[in-house]
Amino acid sequence: MNKIALVTGATGFVGSYLVKRLVQEGWQTHIICRTDSSIPAFVEFDDVIKHFYDGATDSIIQIVADAKPDVVFHLASLFLSQHETKDVDALIQSNILFGTQLLDAMRVNNVRNLINTGTSWQHYNNEDYNPVCLYAATKQAFEALLEYYVQACEFKAITLKLFDTYGPNDPRPKLFYLLNKAAKTGQPLDMSKGEQLIDLVHIDDVVEAFIIASQRLLDNKVTRNESYAVSSNNPIPLRELVELYAKITEQTINVNWGARDYRYREVMQTWIKGNEIECWTPRISLVDGMQKIFVNI
Ligand SMILES: NC(=O)c1ccc[n+]([C@@H]2O[C@H](COP(=O)([O-])OP(=O)(O)OC[C@H]3O[C@@H](n4cnc5c(N)ncnc54)[C@H](OP(=O)(O)O)[C@@H]3O)[C@@H](O)[C@H]2O)c1
Repeated sequence: MNKIALVTGATGFVGSYLVKRLVQEGWQTHIICRTDSSIPAFVEFDDVIKHFYDGATDSIIQIVADAKPDVVFHLASLFLSQHETKDVDALIQSNILFGTQLLDAMRVNNVRNLINTGTSWQHYNNEDYNPVCLYAATKQAFEALLEYYVQACEFKAITLKLFDTYGPNDPRPKLFYLLNKAAKTGQPLDMSKGEQLIDLVHIDDVVEAFIIASQRLLDNKVTRNESYAVSSNNPIPLRELVELYAKITEQTINVNWGARDYRYREVMQTWIKGNEIECWTPRISLVDGMQKIFVNI
């Protein structure tokens, strides 16, 4: 019998690659989208069962009842590196309320296996808990809520804490997108001094961590909320990363180093205290991964 997955955040960068892999591996895959979600053009979601969420807990209860998943993969999130007061409601709604509605829908439907997605940004200055920003604090708050379901309702959970991710077809306006734009237009790019460390993990390695985590749940190896770091173990200073990108793409990028201040609570050192999930290690080196994506762009 096919295993059944229910994925939130499936239309996002990580979620869309995860869904692709789950379908390839024969999982019957259900996704929860918002009514205005846009499905990325590069992903075939034909083999996926789509459910639409209208904000009400009842609609998620019905979705979980219909899907009857063996594992729920929870990736939906609003990411903001810094927030303004107007963002508070959306951060709480996306990162706490929606996730808790999902947990309760699982409880009601007797579904107990969850993979949750956290962030290394819960660990500013390499501390056990020090959130870089309000987004990271909402991730921690959700884990605190999840703990209730683990302790009181026999949930088995794995939280995978992601660092930076990269891969082909990345629609997010992140570093490589900006560098490519600067190279194409010739416009100078103002950046900080570039001494902060960046821990980039290839999307295929990230997805592999989710697959290994799901197997760990299905094998009944989990008794609580286990938490793991999905790190390259090989962070690189931003400045070197830009140089590497320019070399691999054979582009000239005009960067004004030091023209911008570091962000408030810039992550200069990445979190190094997390453990890797058993049987997982990053396999794609940064150079290989970047070469595959960026040669001949
Ligand atoms: N990628 C990274 O480098 C990284 C690093 C650390 C942690 N993470 C975590 O990993 C997970 C996946 O990250 P990602 O990069 O794939 O994220 P993404 O591309 O931004 O996608 C996140 C998805 O979450 C859903 N979502 C729910 N509420 C939202 C809201 N208010 N605003 C925007 N989207 C909302 C959206 O799907 P629908 O529209 O279909 O609902 C969206 O496609 C997230 O939990 C993120 O916090 C990612």
